[in-house]
Amino acid sequence: MKRAVTPGTFDPITNGHLDVISRAAQLVDEVVVAVAASRKKGPLFSLEERTRLAREATAHLPNVRVEPFDGLLVDFAHEIGATIVVKGLRAVTDFEYEFQQTALNYQLSPELETVFIMSPPQYMYLSSSIVREIASMNDEKLESFAPDCVCKALREKFSSRR
Ligand code: PNS
Repeated sequence: MKRAVTPGTFDPITNGHLDVISRAAQLVDEVVVAVAASRKKGPLFSLEERTRLAREATAHLPNVRVEPFDGLLVDFAHEIGATIVVKGLRAVTDFEYEFQQTALNYQLSPELETVFIMSPPQYMYLSSSIVREIASMNDEKLESFAPDCVCKALREKFSSRR
């Protein structure tokens, strides 16, 4: 059984993340979406909320499951028996950061392979931070960028802050 892990902060999961996850799900037997605690990033949504939203958003994908993790990605990958890390690559600006993370993960765990799936043009500049910003401005076009459950959660979050 080939198992891949797709890690991220997913604050919150976007249509761009879903695109990468669905493509990965066609390449391996099982994809585990690993939601990182990422405390230093001070996420808008709690780890529990991000995990719940990612679960709801991927519920239609039978070979995808979502798990939270706190610690090193390589340790989590070993724990769940994943041999591949799949990440999305958007614009060239992602490259340096992803290059560093991949180099570090190879040093920590040489047998864990990292592969990148390039984003199609419509998701090239889509990120969780852009989705949060659009939501904070109460934009009606939010649905083009994030799954319905996320749009609902963002609207609730920002309406309680206004
Ligand atoms: O969506 P993000 O915030 O770009 O995802 C980054 C993430 C969570 C994949 C990365 O920070 C990570 O792997 N965190 C776990 C801690 C770890 O393993 N750090 C060493 C590799 S950089």
